[in-house]
Amino acid sequence: MTKRDYLTVDSLSAEELTKVLDLADEFKANRQRSAAGTGRQGASAQGHTVDLRGLSIGMIFEKPSTRTRVSFEVGISELGAKAVVLSAGELQLGRGETIEDTARVLSGYLHALVVRTFAQSRLETLASAGSIPVINALSDFSHPCQALADLQTIREHSGDLHGLKLSYLGDGNNVAHSLLEAGAMAGMHVAVGSPAGYEPDGQVVRQATEVAVRSGGRITVTNDPLEAARDADAVYTDVWTSMGQESENDSRTRVLRPFQVGAQVMQAAKPDALVLHCLPAHRGEEITAEVMDGPNSVVFEQAGNRLHSQKALLAFLLA
Ligand code: CP
Ligand code: NVA
Repeated sequence: MTKRDYLTVDSLSAEELTKVLDLADEFKANRQRSAAGTGRQGASAQGHTVDLRGLSIGMIFEKPSTRTRVSFEVGISELGAKAVVLSAGELQLGRGETIEDTARVLSGYLHALVVRTFAQSRLETLASAGSIPVINALSDFSHPCQALADLQTIREHSGDLHGLKLSYLGDGNNVAHSLLEAGAMAGMHVAVGSPAGYEPDGQVVRQATEVAVRSGGRITVTNDPLEAARDADAVYTDVWTSMGQESENDSRTRVLRPFQVGAQVMQAAKPDALVLHCLPAHRGEEITAEVMDGPNSVVFEQAGNRLHSQKALLAFLLA
């Protein structure tokens, strides 16, 4: 069997994406049903226990993480596998060993590798040089694991994703790219509102547009935040300064200010529009405290779904 990587959402077909989301719902329901809310019962799905006992899954983090790191480690343990968590500084990678050599060596010990890094090309090199599945735990280009939890959350609240308008306001980078890919596959209208110079990558937009043509979805990109938010079923935002961009903080704060998700944006959206944020959030910057902590916000549920959707992804790739 050839190994499967998850480097962008497009690593899955639309059917596979739905399958992973269905499995994520099952994992969630079973975990909630299990009295202790933990452990082996939580790993049952599709009428049988998904058992990854004996497998070891490496996790390399070259950037900080709260949600991704903890939800993967817990999820791996609930599936019966072992997580081997590494920071780049602990590996010889930090002292100049090549990514290719690292991938070949780790493939001899581990059964999958979850990696958070800067360049998407590092993930691609790891995936092509190694023989085990590589999962993108965020790069500067994409955050495909986040998109799984995002769609799971919207589906739980709104049902069928087809035809829903998902408005993303802010920097058109990693999180926006994965939402464009995932939303297009699911037949959604993904509307991105970003300032000039901060729009999503043109190739991602073109590809998502092609996928949307087939799925019945739609992709729009505008520099007008209220146009992006108009009649939205869900409004999404992310930090203005991503990890690694700290030196640009002042200029980003200035340019992105009109894209803050606050009362005006929410007035443009549907009255019951969901509010999503991948977190960590900066209240008063990309989102007001009022909206972030308001009645339409599902951000903590969304964070919780990282666990269930990543367990589903691991089960899909490895079981
Ligand atoms: N949303 C997300 O990926 O959060 P962390 O950076 O805490 O993992
Ligand atoms: N765009 C953010 C996402 C964090 C989960 C970043 O890359 O820092």
